[in-house]
Amino acid sequence: MPKISPDKVEEIIQAADIVDVISEYVALQPAGKSMKGLCPFHSEKTPSFSVSKERQIFNCFGCGEKGGVVQFISKYKHLDYWESLRFLADKYRITIDNDDFIQAQDTSKRYFQINDLAKQFYNLQLLNLETGKNALEYLKSRGFDELTLNNFEVGYAPKKRDALWENLSKNYHDYELVNLGLIQKRANDYSDVFNNRIMFPIKNEQGKVVGFSGRIFAKDDSGAKYVNSAQTETFKKSDVLYNLNRAIPAINQSKRIVLMEGFFDVISAYQAGVSEAVCSMGTALTLNQAQLIKKYTDNVVVCYDGDEAGIKAAYKALLLLSQVGLEVKIALMPNGMDPDDYIQKESKSGFRNILKNQLLDQYDFVYEILVSRKDLSKPIEIEKAKLALFDFLDRNASSTIREIYLKKFGVDTSVNYEDILADYHSFQIDNAKLKNIQKQKVVNSIESKPQITNKAYEKAMKQLINYFAVFEEARDIIESKIDHIRFENKRYQEFLLVLVMLYKSNRIINEVEINKEFADLTDEELLLFRPRKNAVYNEKELNDCIETLMINKYDFEAKQLFEEIRSGMYSGVELENKQRRFQELQNYKIIIRRNRNVKKTNN
Ligand code: CTP
Ligand code: MN
Repeated sequence: MPKISPDKVEEIIQAADIVDVISEYVALQPAGKSMKGLCPFHSEKTPSFSVSKERQIFNCFGCGEKGGVVQFISKYKHLDYWESLRFLADKYRITIDNDDFIQAQDTSKRYFQINDLAKQFYNLQLLNLETGKNALEYLKSRGFDELTLNNFEVGYAPKKRDALWENLSKNYHDYELVNLGLIQKRANDYSDVFNNRIMFPIKNEQGKVVGFSGRIFAKDDSGAKYVNSAQTETFKKSDVLYNLNRAIPAINQSKRIVLMEGFFDVISAYQAGVSEAVCSMGTALTLNQAQLIKKYTDNVVVCYDGDEAGIKAAYKALLLLSQVGLEVKIALMPNGMDPDDYIQKESKSGFRNILKNQLLDQYDFVYEILVSRKDLSKPIEIEKAKLALFDFLDRNASSTIREIYLKKFGVDTSVNYEDILADYHSFQIDNAKLKNIQKQKVVNSIESKPQITNKAYEKAMKQLINYFAVFEEARDIIESKIDHIRFENKRYQEFLLVLVMLYKSNRIINEVEINKEFADLTDEELLLFRPRKNAVYNEKELNDCIETLMINKYDFEAKQLFEEIRSGMYSGVELENKQRRFQELQNYKIIIRRNRNVKKTNN
């Protein structure tokens, strides 16, 4: 999608009042200075979604979604930034002319430039200016030296509420700084997003600054510990790994990546001589991040915090990472410490030693946390550990590995291997049954809902049957798409399948043959197989029909998946797979619809 010029963007954003826009989708009630409602991005019963007219932003305290009017539309309607702007322009009847468009490259180049300047600005404050003195002292007290801080280009965002704005607004548009999540609009002016925070610039693989994360450090500061750039043109937190760009040479040399949770962990690891460390910026590792790792190496060491949350997260990460084909090892930090604690409080060499000699492979790690750490003197704990182990092995292990760990479990709990094996087999059977029952329930519940067939689908089904019956040149095209379309009307589906059958068995397709197959055709149904008046073969029309029925298929599958996911029948990696499939289906629909619009405007 072509990008829109700065002035036009400003005009659209000015016209689109956020309360006005969101009210169309969310019932909002006044609450103090802002408006409140039920968040459309996660399910909730009490409103935690607030919209500020004054600041022209929304914010959900429940799920953390936030942004301006464009971000709302983008998130709500699954559109990208520029599509959202066009949507708003349409709504407010703002016309976009040819000269309102600009080249894509220009903007992203400018955006990286701005981010880079912001990085320099913050870095200068921390290392060279009086303003950053306290922040620097704090960092030094935690064991970070100036050279390292400079290497990572750590910075400081001053207390002054518009320090960065003042510095950048001379050369850049306000809307650009807003788009990058660096400044925000108040009633009549702009202020910085980051105040009085230690700033970590976040870079992409190529080393371009894409976003920032700011940490509080003053004892009396009650704000959130970390604030990250909102999702912007350049930044999507779930798509980047902090420090990957700097780590690449060390990754190539050591042939592995060390994956951590936090910025300080990575920086401490570097000071301890481990330069191949990156962090996922929290414990929510994503598929994109896993794939990013896979681009550089096949080996990953998960080195998350040693507390319970970190161990749980490491387990989840391990499932995801193995799924993309990575060889995973785990480094467990002792006594609930995070890697940074361990390095600073214990020793650098101790840390290096864990990473060299004490790595657990995935099975040993899982066995350690699911079984060895449990109190196996109690039967109930043995039973719980057993089920957890079964579940893991069932999803992730080959028969050989299963046998080894089931035997080990027998030895550790003094239970007969044969008995354990018998339990495991019934577990497998029950598990499969349970899933089937849940799935059937969902399917039933969808099918029992009264189906209101959409007029467009109805029309497309009829047209497709007609095309197949009447136009020879349509038959191969339709047949090749048959698995990708949905015929929700069973009668029509039968018609089409019979037509395809006739065609495949080289039989003639005409009224006589069709009447032989269907003795009970109504007059109206018969018309489906006859040429319409003045009908000519129109491939575009045919493709339109096919696409409509493809959308129907994706839509149906997506609804079903949604219900399945909501019913809670999936967890772990399987859940992530289902969610990914759901997103994929939504995207397919968007792509098809978008292509159509493009075609329409071209004609
Ligand atoms: N994080 C984040 N947003 C938050 C909280 C955490 O992005 N609201 C990310 C940061 O990258 C952070 C990491 O998650 O570094 C781990 O969080 P946490 O363990 O709380 O912080 P530490 O990195 O350990 O920081 P510190 O040592 O100062 O406690
Ligand atoms: Mn931590």
